[in-house]
Parts: sequence; C-alpha cells; structure tokens
Amino acid sequence: MTESEKTAVVTGAAGGIGRVLVKQFVERGFNVIAGDADAKALEDVASNLNRNGPAVWTKAGDLRSKAYCEELIDFAVQTTGRLDALVNNAGIITRGTIVETSDEDWERTWDINVTAIFYTCRRAIASMKDHGGGSIVNIWSCWGLYPGPGHPAYCASKAAVASLSKCLGRDHAGDGIRVNAVCPNEVNTPMLRTGFIRRGFDPDTAIEQLNRTVPLGRIAEPEDIADVVSFLTSDASRYIVGTAIEVNGAKPVY
Ligand SMILES: NC(=O)c1ccc[n+]([C@@H]2O[C@H](COP(=O)([O-])OP(=O)(O)OC[C@H]3O[C@@H](n4cnc5c(N)ncnc54)[C@H](O)[C@@H]3O)[C@@H](O)[C@H]2O)c1
Repeated sequence: MTESEKTAVVTGAAGGIGRVLVKQFVERGFNVIAGDADAKALEDVASNLNRNGPAVWTKAGDLRSKAYCEELIDFAVQTTGRLDALVNNAGIITRGTIVETSDEDWERTWDINVTAIFYTCRRAIASMKDHGGGSIVNIWSCWGLYPGPGHPAYCASKAAVASLSKCLGRDHAGDGIRVNAVCPNEVNTPMLRTGFIRRGFDPDTAIEQLNRTVPLGRIAEPEDIADVVSFLTSDASRYIVGTAIEVNGAKPVY
C-alpha cells in the first residue's frame, strides 16, 4: 500500500509542532484528520493545505471529553475508510510546585496529557487490529525522563506517557501495530514562547540564550520533531516498536 492511500489522525494539530505534522503527512500523500480545541486555528491550518483538493478534515473538540477522543478515531475510519497512523501530540504544560498546583491544574494536566491518549489509543488499536496494523506515536517530553524544576504535574504526566507507550508497543507488536514515543527537549513553539512571555521575558532573547545551552547550538524547530514522527510512521522504521526516541540536540535535562 502506498502512503497516498493512508490516513493519519493528529491531535493538537493547530499548535506549533502539530501544524508541521499535518503539513508533512499531506506532503506524503496521507489523508489527515486534524483535531484541536482551537477551531479557528484548525480551520486556518486545513484551508492552507486543502488548496489542491481535500487532504485535511478537521474535527475540533476538547480532549478532556472521552466522547471527543473516540469520535476523532471513528471520524477517521468513517471519512476515509481506514486508520494507519495516530499522533497524540496535544499537550499542556502546567507550571508551579506542588503547593502551587490546584486540584483542577492536576486533573486538567492528566486529562489532556495522559487520559486522552488512553482513550484515543484504545479506540485506534481496536480499529488497527482489524485492518492490518498501523503506527502510533505519542509525544512525550525530556522532562518526563529527567524532571525539570517546578513542574510536577507536567513531568509526572509525561513520564506516564512514556510508560504507556512502551506497554502498548510491547502488547500490540503482534497485531502489526507499532507504538512509540518521541521525546523532545525545548522546541520553538507557542508553548515555549508564551511561557517566556508570561514570566515577563522577551521570547526571542530567551530563546537565543537557550540556544547556547544546547550542544548542537540551537533548540529544536517543530520540523526537527516532525521529521522523527514522519520516520516512525513510515515503513523505514518497521522494526522500531515500544521505544522512546530522545530528540534533544544532545541536551538532556538533569
Ligand atoms: N515546545 C516544547 O518545548 C516541548 C518540549 C517537549 C515536549 N513538548 C510536547 O510537544 C507537544 C506539542 O507541543 P507544542 O509545543 O506544539 O505546543 P502548542 O501549545 O504549540 O500546541 C499544543 C496544541 O494542543 C492543543 N490542545 C491543548 N489542550 C487541548 C485540549 N484539551 N483538547 C484539544 N486540543 C488541545 C492546543 O490548542 C494547541 O494547538 C505537547 O505534547 C508538548 O508537551 C513540547
């Protein structure tokens, strides 16, 4: 089967990494189901990519809803007849020490960063099993590996994503489903930039300083992450399963 007959679902498709993921899948010929809470930004992503014919179908909604998570997967199968790739990319970063973290902060972080992935993976794996397999990539974070300071909700939730991805990879390799995780360090996206703005820093200056802390000389651009997802959802990675790939320019967080 060529990639032009395949279908991918991408969550967080209107975000910094998400919109590049969608663009790359379209360039490979995939039909893409793009999900995000920001309906307007999602429409902008799709309309830019649908100029040469329909390639992106949008489904806006909130990943805190179990029904939405499952509808996203069902919509892919109903609209295109199949599901070959799922990228659980959406995520939120919750700042603050444990005493600064409210119950609502904790629950929102786990709902979006972990529970939504449980719901989409469960639905997708059930469908992929019946249709010859597929590839799932969950976006993890280096802070799930080596927790950074002052972000316990985020770090713990991302650690759970890594463990879940490895479990699913092992459990469903025999079904022809490859589940892996990608683990970025700092990426130049709205998530990183708005964090600097909220703390009163100029994002360009802050990123320039961050660049000097990376052995490779710069923080990642969304394309650096999307290229690895592209590899993991292609046949070139056919023997890679149940693993997590660090994409960090040689800058681990200790
Ligand atoms: N930017 C970084 O430095 C960095 C580092 C490590 C890991 N990551 C991970 O990469 C992934 C993408 O991050 P990004 O930097 O592109 O972030 P981003 O903030 O630019 O994009 C995230 C997208 O997810 C969507 N989203 C958030 N909550 C949602 C919800 N409840 N329902 C539906 N959609 C929702 C947002 O609307 C947004 O479009 C995240 O999982 C993040 O944790 C990012």
